[in-house]
Amino acid sequence: MGLFNKKSTQAGRLDMEKLPRHVAVIMDGNGRWAKKRGLPRTAGHAAGAEVFRRIATYCSKLGIEYLTVYAFSTENWKRPSDEVEAIMALFEKYLHEAIEKMEKENVRLRVLGDTSRLSPEIRALIEETAAKNDRITGMQANICINYGGRSEILRAAKAAAADAIRSGLELDCEMLEKHLYTSGIPDPDLIIRPSGEKRLSNFLLWQSAYSELYFTDALWPDFTERELDRAIIDYQSRSRRYGGIQKP
Ligand code: IPE
Ligand code: IPE
Ligand code: MG
Repeated sequence: MGLFNKKSTQAGRLDMEKLPRHVAVIMDGNGRWAKKRGLPRTAGHAAGAEVFRRIATYCSKLGIEYLTVYAFSTENWKRPSDEVEAIMALFEKYLHEAIEKMEKENVRLRVLGDTSRLSPEIRALIEETAAKNDRITGMQANICINYGGRSEILRAAKAAAADAIRSGLELDCEMLEKHLYTSGIPDPDLIIRPSGEKRLSNFLLWQSAYSELYFTDALWPDFTERELDRAIIDYQSRSRRYGGIQKP
């Protein structure tokens, strides 16, 4: 149980007994937010990183178990190199801070994606944060960096096929899931995409099979705790049937 029992908001009431276990967010709209203000796109990424810090703290206070954010896709390398470098610098700064704060804030941190293309400095920081996780019991924040759903599935399929050949067992979903970056993490209950776009852009393609989707026009740097409340309240009104029929 998190901080509050029932929490009133403008949009309705958050039911603390029916919180999603796992919330995922496509942190989109940083560039447009900056453009609207006549600022360089990189200022939007810096503002977006701040909002991530705030929303992660809020999710942890609410009692969400897993928060997964999409920070950089396998396709985002197509962007101008100064923008990519600025995003990587923000990520490095965030990891430095996280190492200092994660125990105090009781938040575990995991990086999902192909880290082999990241700088040696960032890879070392990722290892340092991972080493601290064992001592932490609180929310798990997953940051997707150089993450792509298709390459994740392909990589897992290759590894699972090798397992199947070795063991002589028939390849099944469970064997494949063991090799996804998200291994051991439940599928997201709720996926939020701000910025008005209504697509997944290669995010959690396997894991989103039965996720509830929520779209809002707010740009990520404008996203607030209230907006998250609204998304969760909307989620709580949905009937999740997983292909079955609604229980009477
Ligand atoms: C999301 O914001 C951050 C990354 C993809 C790295 P964008 O940079 O995509 O912002 P828009 O979509 O151009 O506004
Ligand atoms: C998705 O946003 C990736 C992240 C937010 C990290 P993009 O801005 O890259 O997606 P598209 O290009 O609009 O589909
Ligand atoms: Mg975008």
